[in-house]
This record gives sequence, structure tokens and C-alpha cells, in this order.
Amino acid sequence: MDIVNHTAKLAAKPKFNSRLPFSANLPYDGLFAERLPLIHAFSLALHHAISARKSLSLYRKARACLVGNDLAFHAAECGVYMGNSLVACAQMVRACGLKGRFHALDTFSGLPDLSEIDLRLAPENAPYRGQKLFADTSFEAVKSRVIDAGLSDSVVFHKGLFADTLQHLPNVKYHFVNIDCDLFEPHIECLDFFYPRMARGGVIFFDDYGSREFPMARAAVDQFMRDKPELLFHLRTGDDGSNRTKTYIVKY
Ligand SMILES: C[S@@+](CC[C@H](N)C(=O)[O-])C[C@H]1O[C@@H](n2cnc3c(N)ncnc32)[C@H](O)[C@@H]1O
Repeated sequence: MDIVNHTAKLAAKPKFNSRLPFSANLPYDGLFAERLPLIHAFSLALHHAISARKSLSLYRKARACLVGNDLAFHAAECGVYMGNSLVACAQMVRACGLKGRFHALDTFSGLPDLSEIDLRLAPENAPYRGQKLFADTSFEAVKSRVIDAGLSDSVVFHKGLFADTLQHLPNVKYHFVNIDCDLFEPHIECLDFFYPRMARGGVIFFDDYGSREFPMARAAVDQFMRDKPELLFHLRTGDDGSNRTKTYIVKY
């Protein structure tokens, strides 16, 4: 999320709006353009999951049903805030006719305290040094938004710090994970958990890799991926401004 815009929005004291626009109508508005890389990466994850399922023999499909292995599309979002990207992606799963499970992880009360690494890497004038960002949301509001969108069967909420909630997630193969949590340690916690649990062809999307306001996001991803074989793919929207470049990996 572009923090300059976000800080301006905060200053304007927005009321929580459970129906923020997420329109794909042409010409794209700024919000949609910023989301397009996520939609691309998510489509790729859907494509890989659907291809993998098609390539299963009838015998393996029947066996999966018999032994209770569900063939659902498993996804997670680490950093939900108001639920914009969560709802958009969960709607895409439904539109594809896939059975989906979407795990939504957040404090739902804003960023946790900055760690020593965050404080070391954050720009001197970063607004979040003195102000808790993304606190203008609530668990109840996001939940009712999900219910309004008819997605309550597929979205599972995990409220709290990742360090406490990740351990309660099911031990399945994940097809898509959106890591959008800005800070250093939360990135590492999510990668430690999800990377070994990704399905082959599964996608991990790093929303903040190109963020100048949160350089610790990129530092964490680079540190984690240093000894991993997967390539980082970069999708740039518009000019080279902060957070215009979004990044993802496809698990081998
Ligand atoms: C940029 S916002 C997410 C935006 C959202 N994905 C979207 O596109 O609308 C970052 C979120 O990460 C959450 N977050 C960061 N670190 C966290 C942690 N350690 N545990 C739980 N939530 C965390 C914050 O509460 C915040 O809501």
C-alpha cells in the first residue's frame, strides 16, 4: 500500500467504508492500478492450481476424495487491514468455480511495535515512527464486509500477531500467500511458515518489496530468499515511485 496516499487518507480522517471501490472498469482508477499486480500474480496461482488438478488421474482424484484430501485452493493473506485485497482475491476463487479456503491474518488493530531492525532501516522521517499505522479498521468491520460479499464460507479469520496465529493454521499445501505486512520480522515469520508449505507452482506475493517507506520488507525477503532456488519476479505499475513495484515468487 502506498503510504503517502495512506497518510493523506488518515489525515482526512476517513470513516470506515465497508464497500470501498475495487473496480476493474476502464480507465483504471489509481486504486485498481495499484492492485493489478496482485491480480496478475493471483491469476497465475489459480492457473497453476487448476492445471495441477486437471493433470490428476481419475484414480488420484477418487483416492483424494476417499482419504479425505481436499482438492481446495488454499490461500492466505498476512496483512488484511480493511479487507480490500482479501475480498477481491476470494471473489476470484469463487468466480473460477474452485472450492477455496482463504486464511486472513491480522491484528485488525494496526501495525505492531517496530523492532530494532525496523527502527534501524526505517527512513528518518517515516510517519509510522510516531504513529500507529493501519489502526483505522476493526475485526468486526472486516468480518461483516466478508459476510456482505457472501464469502463467509471460504474466509477463515486469525486475529492477533502472526507469531501467535500462524501455528494454528492447517498444515496443508498453500497455493497463494499475499505477504503485505510492511515490517521485517513479520515477513520472516510468514516466510518461515509458508515457504515450506507452498504447493508446487504456488505463488507468494510481496506487496511491499518496492516500498521506499518500508525498506525492511525488501531486506527481509532478500535475506530469506538468499539461499532459495526460486526467482523473484517484479511487476511495475506506472512510474518508478515508491511501492509501484510488486514482487512474487513461484514455488518450485
Ligand atoms: C498494508 S496493511 C495490509 C493491506 C491489505 N493487504 C490491503 O491491500 O488492503 C498491513 C497490515 O499488516 C498487519 N500486520 C503487520 N504486522 C503484523 C503482525 N506481526 N501480526 C499481525 N498483523 C500484522 C497490520 O495490522 C496491517 O493491517
